[in-house]
Amino acid sequence: MALRFSLLFLFFLLLTTSFVFADDDLNNNDDLLIRQVVDDDHLLNAEHHFSIFKRRFGKTYATKEEHDYRHMVFKDNLRRAKRRQRLDPSAVHGVTRFSDLTPAEFRRNFLGLKRKLKLPADANQAPILPTSDLPADFDWRDHGAVTPVKNQGSCGSCWSFSATGALEGANYLATGNLVSLSEQQLVECDHECDPAEPDSCDSGCNGGLMNSAFEYTLKAGGLMREEDYPYTGTDRGTCKFDKTKVAAKVANFSVVSLDEDQIAANLVKNGPLAVAINAVFMQTYIGGVSCPLICSKRLDHGVLLVGYGSAGFSPIRMKDKPYWIIKNSWGKHWGEKGYYKICRGHNICGVDSMVSSVAGVTTTSQ
Ligand SMILES: *[C@@H]1O[C@H](CO)[C@@H](O)[C@H](O)[C@H]1NC(C)=O
Repeated sequence: MALRFSLLFLFFLLLTTSFVFADDDLNNNDDLLIRQVVDDDHLLNAEHHFSIFKRRFGKTYATKEEHDYRHMVFKDNLRRAKRRQRLDPSAVHGVTRFSDLTPAEFRRNFLGLKRKLKLPADANQAPILPTSDLPADFDWRDHGAVTPVKNQGSCGSCWSFSATGALEGANYLATGNLVSLSEQQLVECDHECDPAEPDSCDSGCNGGLMNSAFEYTLKAGGLMREEDYPYTGTDRGTCKFDKTKVAAKVANFSVVSLDEDQIAANLVKNGPLAVAINAVFMQTYIGGVSCPLICSKRLDHGVLLVGYGSAGFSPIRMKDKPYWIIKNSWGKHWGEKGYYKICRGHNICGVDSMVSSVAGVTTTSQ
């Protein structure tokens, strides 16, 4: 009986595993089989979970139809979280403030990374750095180079937060001052286009690219402070850049290779790095080290790599499992106080595939 049960479980696991792949990566919502797999207990409780969710996140819906529709989406997301939990046992997945959004709504409103085509003219290839003396753990938050977690709101401006985060760190290393920089300047003023594709340009809440944002910042002369050009969460305003109020300048920026030791070496030497990631597992992430068995490498979110560490002894490796520490822009109530941990070692969710490093201009040369 026990054996049969575990075989059955294995079968379900395989079944749901392949379905998550289909559902999340190919946007195939045809998960009829999943519905039969989910245990009744969970579905009976969905009503209760939905009430708690509405209270906790202050959700109200204008009409009964809207309410019922969101309830249905919420139930889908409970199942989705359960599947993610099975695929990603070292993290905790569950109800988040995104639990009443369909995957498409989530992508549209809370991500915002444009597809990379060609690098801007001024991007360099990062030089290969020595990696023999890298510390075992490193976190730029312990060295004063990271501003508090910000919130992009319902605007696909992740790319601007990733870019300001990297320049905030670089500017701190160059000048000794940690200054929070303006995303709104990038959202309203940066229309830098892909050199190969003139139609693919940084476009506020409709997405952009960190490298293009560095290119813009280099050409514009710098970024203003957050206080002088505050974030509004919309891109309907006009550009209010005032060159006399520039607070940080880009000296140069470069693209780091896919090699994880090189990424770590560049992080330690140059400050937090702008990285892109596939954010599918972030919609349901509560905490822990995310290490999904299957995760698409299609990049759709821009975030900030601030450090690395290791935790949870792995009998196969005979040492703790390594992870990256990532600053997100969904407020400090998401994830681990606004942060995400993802396992390091094999380009999980594409986290190693689009990494850039920026250098600030030092005070004396400004
Ligand atoms: C900036 O340029 C300097 C000098 O050429 C180089 O050593 C450094 O690696 C560059 N930094 C970045 C982030 O591109």
